[in-house]
Amino acid sequence: MKNIAVIGVGYVGLVTGTCFADLGNRVTCVDVNEERIANLKQGILPIYEPGLEEMVRRNMAAGRLSFTTSYAEALNCPEGSAELVFIAVNTPAGVDGEAELRYVRAAAETIAQTMDHPLIIVNKSTVPVGTGDWVADIVKNKQPKPIPFSVVSNPEFLREGSAISDFMNPDRIVLGSLDEEAAQKVAQLYLPLRGPIMITDLRTAEMIKYASNAFLATKISFINEIANICEALGADVKEVAAGMGYDKRIGRAFLDAGLGYGGSCFPKDVKALAHMANVQGKHPQLLEAVMQINADARRSIVAKVRALVGNNGAHLNRLEGRTIGVLGLAFKANTDDIRESQPIDIIRMVQADGGMVKAYDPVAMPNAAKVLQNVKLCEDAYEVAEGSDALILATEWNEFKNLDLVRIKRMMKQPVIVDGRNLYDPSVMRELGFIYRGVGRGY
Ligand code: NAD
Ligand code: UGA
Repeated sequence: MKNIAVIGVGYVGLVTGTCFADLGNRVTCVDVNEERIANLKQGILPIYEPGLEEMVRRNMAAGRLSFTTSYAEALNCPEGSAELVFIAVNTPAGVDGEAELRYVRAAAETIAQTMDHPLIIVNKSTVPVGTGDWVADIVKNKQPKPIPFSVVSNPEFLREGSAISDFMNPDRIVLGSLDEEAAQKVAQLYLPLRGPIMITDLRTAEMIKYASNAFLATKISFINEIANICEALGADVKEVAAGMGYDKRIGRAFLDAGLGYGGSCFPKDVKALAHMANVQGKHPQLLEAVMQINADARRSIVAKVRALVGNNGAHLNRLEGRTIGVLGLAFKANTDDIRESQPIDIIRMVQADGGMVKAYDPVAMPNAAKVLQNVKLCEDAYEVAEGSDALILATEWNEFKNLDLVRIKRMMKQPVIVDGRNLYDPSVMRELGFIYRGVGRGY
């Protein structure tokens, strides 16, 4: 059992803190967002993540997990001061694509000003290569009096929607530090998970995170490029991905063609890696192509809708007078996260073309309502279908897999479906009388 503090109670901080508590540690989570902490103290979570609420409540009840806005309470707790502090604050994209480090800086400064005993500072946020050294400088310079500390990089690889299972069953744990003893202490925390633990230097650990996300994003853009070619040549990208995936050197994962990658991580991390390369005078041509293909994937969905139900000719507002239904608002299934959400982008493109939009998502509507204007948010998929000229399947929620398509068709103004996730079988859709377009499935 160790005493741990976690700074930042978002997707990563809350999952990390809760899972470490579940493994028997005493964890105090700190956030600057007072409303978030007040809610958490009552067991109300700021995010939707399957299984997390029950785990939070159970560990709070057992006295292993608590929430506060006070760094002092988390770090220098009289019941046992923290031995390790994890930084899990957000690192959003800045104006030039660089990772914004102001929240990491604030966290490091406050740790320095608050700590009253030696600490291992573990960085879990995704940060540019070199940030670990920068954090060490900040802490050293901001401490009122010198207290020993070490900095360890411990990038996080969990996915939203399967975060607990990803955390508890890691493919690997990466630890980067010049201080072997500190890295070993962090490693001990992870021993119960039985994943391979790799200890390397700080900068290499930081790069492993970017390289991993960029590689996965590259797989997605690669298959979207193949999908584009499949459409022109009459091949089916789903079968192509399956056929490729049998090769162990390739693997089937992350070869789903569709709307391209969205979310709070791939878009910002590919951008940030390209930015790091450019700053160093390197030319990240592959990363640039990955980003361009990704942007095209969203545009191509709207182009399909225009081609099927849009006004002909030189109309600027090619979807004027058309109602487009959008099924799904989250950037993928099983999350309420709409950061860099492809469906939201697509909705804006439809609106820019003069189209009216109706939409539904099982959990992301409250978040989407905060950023969307003039969209009719519906009770379910059927209400979306009613009177729509076309439906866009935008998020692969399970409940969209078994819709009553006969009913959907009856309710629509025109039986047009653009399936951005290749959820449906093209031949079944045609038999049902739909005009159906998937992504990369030939016609
Ligand atoms: P998030 O936006 O969900 O949460 C960040 C939290 O940090 C917020 O609650 C915010 O109020 C808090 N915060 C900001 N500044 C603070 C400060 N100075 N002190 C205390 N709290 C502060 O972010 P997230 O999605 O959890 O991502 C966190 C980091 O982890 C990012 O670098 C991200 O790239 C990385 N990451 C995210 C995921 C994911 O699935 N979301 C997975 C792996 C890595
Ligand atoms: C991703 C990584 O998978 C995690 O390992 C990493 O920790 C995390 O980013 C991060 O650094 O924050 P996440 O963004 O939660 O996790 O979601 P993914 O499941 O990776 O999906 C990302 C996007 O790619 C989604 O929009 C998804 O729909 C899309 N995607 C995924 C595809 O278009 N095709 C695929 O084959 C897979």
